[in-house]
Amino acid sequence: MKERDRLRIAMQKSGRLTEPALDLLQRCGLSFRQSRDKLFCFGEGEPVDLLLVRDDDIPSLIAQGVCDLGIVGRNVLNEFQLTAGEESPPLAELRPLGFGRCRLSIAVPQEFEYQGPQHLEGTRIATSYPGLLAAWLREKGVNAGVMTLAGSVEIAPRLGTADAICDLVQSGGTLVANQLRETDVLLESEAVLAAAGAPPADERGDMLELLLKRLDGVIQVRE
Ligand code: PRP
Ligand code: ZN
Ligand code: MG
Repeated sequence: MKERDRLRIAMQKSGRLTEPALDLLQRCGLSFRQSRDKLFCFGEGEPVDLLLVRDDDIPSLIAQGVCDLGIVGRNVLNEFQLTAGEESPPLAELRPLGFGRCRLSIAVPQEFEYQGPQHLEGTRIATSYPGLLAAWLREKGVNAGVMTLAGSVEIAPRLGTADAICDLVQSGGTLVANQLRETDVLLESEAVLAAAGAPPADERGDMLELLLKRLDGVIQVRE
């Protein structure tokens, strides 16, 4: 891999976390030559550059050392930790960022008589988070089929391909629109600053320290 002396942060190219993430970085005194279409934004002033990518790719970019930091949902980070395999280095959640709050929940069709996780025994559950769901099912001692879908998970029960779902809930609007009822919360999530287990041992490490100090200031002011 090419040697780097500038810190590199990966964030979501377009989606719910994009605007608040850019806003936060700006409050930390970072500014970028705007070339958002180019997916690589060169930092002016500080030696910090941005990479605009799919949120699901962010943990592996950090694990590979392509990026030093990532702004990503805890759900995506934890799912990666559970499914990446042993060769992948452990990642760290450095700071919760206080935006992009949502939860990963089980939801069932309105007519499903649900009194607890044991009612999921023998069912098929559609999700984009097979690792987190499997871990929860194991903890509850429930045997269920895990069906992985990349998106639009809420449609699966109506199609008859799943009995329940496990997906993110923010406003709850998607659940209501699809006649689903939230039953269990597996994970409370929000955007977090993610990094490799050990900070870079060169000047990037110093920049990271400075950035964390500014971030703590910005987050305190907001609270
Ligand atoms: C997310 C999530 C839920 C929905 C929750 O989907 O997967 O479907 O938003 O938000 P709500 O509770 O406010 O309705 P997204 O829109 O990102 O699309 P995708 O699932 O197809 O990726
Ligand atoms: Zn995604
Ligand atoms: Mg969705």
